[in-house]
Amino acid sequence: MKLCGQDNTEANRLIESAKEARAFAYTPYSSFTVGAALLTETGEVYTGCNIENAAFTPGNCAERTAIFKAVSEGKRDFTAIAIVGGKEGEELTEGTFCAPCGVCRQVMMEFANPETFRIYLTDGTQVRMYLLKELLPLAFGPKNLE
Ligand code: THU
Repeated sequence: MKLCGQDNTEANRLIESAKEARAFAYTPYSSFTVGAALLTETGEVYTGCNIENAAFTPGNCAERTAIFKAVSEGKRDFTAIAIVGGKEGEELTEGTFCAPCGVCRQVMMEFANPETFRIYLTDGTQVRMYLLKELLPLAFGPKNLE
């Protein structure tokens, strides 16, 4: 993990986009809203929010919304993602970071290099950067099937 300073343009830009996407979250069941902003290797940003469902299991996380949007438009190589989440209508809590769930980490593994893919998280005060390999050690991925 690395702390990001104020001058980290990539982190700031992605976090701002993730905050904007968070406003679109559809969360009548958890009231926990999440926004994500995904950077492609070619410099585009795809955003996503979490989308819940009355039947619960069809719900989708913000990260996968962003990744699936990008893949469905022909992008398959990603370099970074920012994730911002917390209880709807509440300030973010210092020390509480919305980290991606296990399923989303596995989906990231499909389209990103775990050695270099950057995951930015914020608690509203601090911005932290993790590499995918730190959040998904000993991962199973496409290389295992070669
Ligand atoms: N959620 C995300 O969208 N991303 C995360 O990183 C963690 C959890 C969503 C799923 C569900 O809609 C709500 O947050 C509560 O789990």
